[in-house]
Amino acid sequence: MNELSHAGRLSRVRATAYAKLTLSLRVVGRRDDGYHDLEALVVSIEDPHDVVEVEAVPHPGGVSFLVAGELEGVPTGSTNLAMRAGEAAMRRAGRSGHGVRMTLRKKIPAGAGLGGGSADAAAAMHAVRRMLELELDDAAMLDVGVEIGSDVPFCLTGGAAWLRGRGERLEPLELPVGLPYLVAIPPFRLATPMVYAAWDDLGGPRATRSVPAFGPVAGLVSELVNDLEPAAEAIEPRLVEFREALERIVGAPALLAGSGSAYVVPVADDLVGRLDAVAKQVRRSLKVLVAPSQTVARGVRVSLG
Ligand code: C5P
Repeated sequence: MNELSHAGRLSRVRATAYAKLTLSLRVVGRRDDGYHDLEALVVSIEDPHDVVEVEAVPHPGGVSFLVAGELEGVPTGSTNLAMRAGEAAMRRAGRSGHGVRMTLRKKIPAGAGLGGGSADAAAAMHAVRRMLELELDDAAMLDVGVEIGSDVPFCLTGGAAWLRGRGERLEPLELPVGLPYLVAIPPFRLATPMVYAAWDDLGGPRATRSVPAFGPVAGLVSELVNDLEPAAEAIEPRLVEFREALERIVGAPALLAGSGSAYVVPVADDLVGRLDAVAKQVRRSLKVLVAPSQTVARGVRVSLG
């Protein structure tokens, strides 16, 4: 396939959008704008991931959009964050008139707390910037990104970071790649605004349940907590049942990932060798999506063609 148009520009670009895994999260306050100030330890993980493909087309101008794959709860039109982010990046660079055909291939489920929509938005921005050679530096990308969603700034960079404010203040962390985590996604999903609203209604609970951190992460925090877990488990009681069943099968504690509904099991050394077998067992017993995963260095990987 020809990647270069006659003008010497790229005619198609592919961007892998990695899921964002929240390992630990404290809600430190409620803001006047309705958002919550957070202090969260977040990492990019290899699986699940989505793919955003963009192709330059002579017409129509603007972004035409198609989505395929795991579609439940995913907007297929102009409210999709990938499409909005692509358009916003082009607009900021003064290139809205160019024609871009965007295809989003979904694997990260919506409503799982894995930042799928934000990862797609970040991937769309990187893909469009690369293909159209947009004059948009990284600071401008972050600026455009936070307007699309609180998690987009992290997803634009990815790797590992302390995330503060509503997500716009990032402190990058040096963590090795390849740290193993098991992610289990129940068949029921949660809407992020509802989980934050439940946290408010409950009077802002501070989580008391914690799970141990392993390896280099233990050098950053002694234990992993999630203040949104009591709120999510209050509005969706099936989560507790799911978590307990998961913990029984894996033989290790699980923590809600972000606003849920996915759970993460940090993988201790003695579980590493059995990880695939354990994942299979969880999949078979609970009939749910399970991803043995590992940390990666970036939020988005751009490749050509
Ligand atoms: O920024 P984003 O659109 O992804 O946020 C979705 C919703 O999640 C917000 O409307 C808000 O209800 C909630 N939220 C929050 N505090 C954050 C991030 C998200 O209250 N730091």
